[in-house]
Order: sequence, then C-alpha cells, then structure tokens
Amino acid sequence: MAIPGIPPKIVVIAIGLLSAWLLQKIFSGIYNVFYHPVAGFPGPRAAAITAWYKTYQEVFRGRSWIDVLQELHKKYGKIVRVGPNELHFSDPSAYHEIYNNNNRWDKEAGLYHSFGEDRSSFGFLTYAESKQRKDVMAPLFSRRAIYELQGLVQSHIDRLCKVLETNNAAGKSSDLFFGLRCFTMDTITSFCFAKSVDAISEPDFKAPIIEAMEASLPAFVIFKHFSLIRKAVFNMPPWLSVITSPQTSGLIHLQQLLGSQVTEVLNNPDSLQDAPHRIIYHELLDPKAQKGAPLPSAGSLYEEAQALMFGGGDTTGNGLMLGTFHLLESPALVERLKEELRSHWPVLENPPKLEVLEKLPFLTIVGISGSFVHNSADIFKNPKDFDPDRWLQADSASLEKWLVAFSKGPRMFLQTVNYTSHSLRSSDALISSLTGPVWAI
Ligand code: HEM
Repeated sequence: MAIPGIPPKIVVIAIGLLSAWLLQKIFSGIYNVFYHPVAGFPGPRAAAITAWYKTYQEVFRGRSWIDVLQELHKKYGKIVRVGPNELHFSDPSAYHEIYNNNNRWDKEAGLYHSFGEDRSSFGFLTYAESKQRKDVMAPLFSRRAIYELQGLVQSHIDRLCKVLETNNAAGKSSDLFFGLRCFTMDTITSFCFAKSVDAISEPDFKAPIIEAMEASLPAFVIFKHFSLIRKAVFNMPPWLSVITSPQTSGLIHLQQLLGSQVTEVLNNPDSLQDAPHRIIYHELLDPKAQKGAPLPSAGSLYEEAQALMFGGGDTTGNGLMLGTFHLLESPALVERLKEELRSHWPVLENPPKLEVLEKLPFLTIVGISGSFVHNSADIFKNPKDFDPDRWLQADSASLEKWLVAFSKGPRMFLQTVNYTSHSLRSSDALISSLTGPVWAI
C-alpha cells in the first residue's frame, strides 16, 4: 500500500505494529473473558474484556462510579466483575474481610497515582512505606498535641462565626458550604504548616483556593484514566498551568506557597525555630524520628503537604457541611444540642475545653453516611435518616464496627480521628449560634 509522501517501508512497519497491537488486544480480551481467574464472576461483558469500560462510564458518560456500581449490583448480585482484574462487593460483611489489619495489600497504582502524591503517606502504594511516614508524623496528630493546639482551631471557628454574625446582622445569607471549607482550609494549613491561607476573610467565602479545589476535581477523573495527560499537566511550569486552566490558578498559588516553604525549610532548617508551634517539617526533618530511614526529598515533602491539605480540608469541610445541613433540618435536635451545650457553656466568650466537649453525650460521635456499608438497612435502621441517637443506645457499641468513613485497616489514618473530632466538635460554637433565618446551604 502506498501513501503519498511516506516511504513504503514505514507504512509496512506501521501496519505491522498496529496489527500486532490489535491482535494482542483481541487475545487478551479472549483470555479475560474465558480463562482469567475471575472469569466465573458475573458482570458486564465489556468490563470483563477491558478496563476501558470504567473509562467509558466515568469519562465519556460522566457518571459517578458509585452510581454505576449500584446499578451493576442490582443487576448482577452481591459480587460483580467490574473490570478484567477487579471485583466489587456490596455485602457489608465483606467490608471487614477486605479492610482489616491483617491485609497489607498494596494500593492500586492506577487510582492512587492519579493524585500526583506518590511519595506521601496517602500515595505510597505499600503498607511499609506509608506506615513509616505515618509513624514519623504521629506526634503531631496525637491526642495530646491536639489538646495543646485546640486554641488554634478555636481561633478559626471564632473568625468564621464573626463573619456569619456580621452577614446575619446585615440580613445577608452565608454560603456555609464555602464557609466551612474556608474554616477547614485555614485550620489545616495553620495546623500543619503554620501558614494560614486566610480563606475565611475572602468576600463571600469565595477563596480562590477553595474554588480551585472544587474546579480541579473533574480533572482527577481524567488523570486516573489518562496518565499521559496527568504527567503533562503536573510537569507544566506554573505560569503555563495558570494560562491553560485559569479556574484552578488558586491551586497553583497554593502549590507555590507550599513548595516555597519546603525550599525554605530545606535551605534553612533553623527557620523552623520561628514557627509558633510544631509543624509537619519538625517531624519529617528530624533524623531521630526517621529512625535510620533517609530524610524525605523535597518532592516527597511537598507531596506530603499537598496530601494533608487535600485529605484534611475537603473531608472535614464536607463532614461539617453534612452534619450542619441535617441538624438545621431537625429543629428539635438543634434545641437539644443547644441545651446540652448551654449546661456546660454558660458564657459564650468562654468556650469549654475540648476535654469537656468530648464528654457530652450528644456530641460523642459524629458520623457521615457513606455508601454501601453506611446505607445498609441490615446494619443501620433507616440508614438515610440523620439520627444521632442511633449512637447513644445501650447496644450502640456494636455499630461502631460499621462506621467506616475513615476507612479501616492498615491504610486508615488513625490520628485523623483526633484531629477531625476536634474540628467537628469545635464547630459546636457555630451550631449554637445558628439562630438567624438567613442561612443559604
Ligand atoms: C471527616 C474527615 C475525614 C474523613 C471522612 C477521612 C477519610 C479517609 C479515608 C476513607 C481514607 C482512606 C483513603 C484511601 O486509602 O483510599 C483516609 C486516609 C487518609 N487520611 Fe483521612 N479522612 C478525614 C480527615 C483527615 C484529616 C484531617 C487528615 C490529616 C490532617 C487526613 C489524612 C489522611 C491520610 C494521610 C490518609 C492516608 C492513610 C494511608 O493511606 O495509609 N484525613 N481518610
């Protein structure tokens, strides 16, 4: 075959390569459907043949994978083959068999490398690497450290309440979704890096960093499926990223801020002495804490910072939003919470210590409904209802096994629970001040 302008040899080689690639795909498809070890499990034929099934659903149809899974389980039962090499379970009893401390499986590279945080506690694929990193940072998230830094969390919640009060007094509504995100972002950045991004002060809580994080979420789905695009985007110089994606420029700004802090602490470790409290770099750059392991590289420090910022900002912000939303839907619960708070908090300007708040029965556990496990009616009575009382019954301890919002097993970030529960409880001030009629959620 002759193509004008292209030497015939090149055409033959190109056709040969293309045919070999096609043949390989056809053979692997046949193998996947008939001979693969999980060939006996039910599921869509396309998913058995190729991983492009997931790409098609998520990228081209723009569907949430959770919705697809729900649909597939309805059609095929409790165990579904959702990819050539992937099974998904819907029966909650499988949860603890998969996520427990005995299973130290590696994380899946395709998914976890899509975040660009491969060298962080979240992104390390192996349990051993992640555990080493989490052990080093553990003192920062210990209960004692959280007690000591509770004033910091309180100061940010006070700032948030001030803005809400001012808006309320002016008859102006407040966007709590963004407000709470700003609160958690300011808290996590000052807690981990002693550098608050001061998102709460932005007009209408429209902080560029929060808007950029929201805007960047769809990109991560693309990155998961197309690693070449991910590499190209992550390796772009910041000025080019700002031009190609102006809506995420706030993120680039924050990345520069975190990056320059890493450079500063590496070039001048003494600068850490100026920090008002211990931050992640005190731990990460302490040779004793590393117990013989080499100190993390600049890239790894940066990725850890980004992982904590995303992991600690979005999650807690969403949790607070969900809890506040459901509370505001139930005036009786708001009243009960206020009563409980008033009994231990008579003077508004003197908020009780975390040690006191965490002993109040109504506040003991705050949970977020997840998907399959959290929505199981076999485990949770009326799973869709916001019912804090379900955690206050005589037999409630048996339910705790099923509170899986933080994951379970070796890849759970145990210390998270200390930090998160403090952030959530500190926002009682916020709940207790929800008296105005003008909340926009
Ligand atoms: C309501 C709040 C939070 C929720 C619901 C939550 C949920 C989760 C979940 C489900 C995982 C497992 C993810 C996976 O491996 O695929 C995880 C891991 C992790 N979380 Fe959180 N998290 C919260 C708050 C935080 C906070 C405040 C921090 C840090 C400041 C944090 C840091 C981490 C880290 C570093 C990991 C990775 C642990 C590992 O892979 O071994 N999280 N979290």
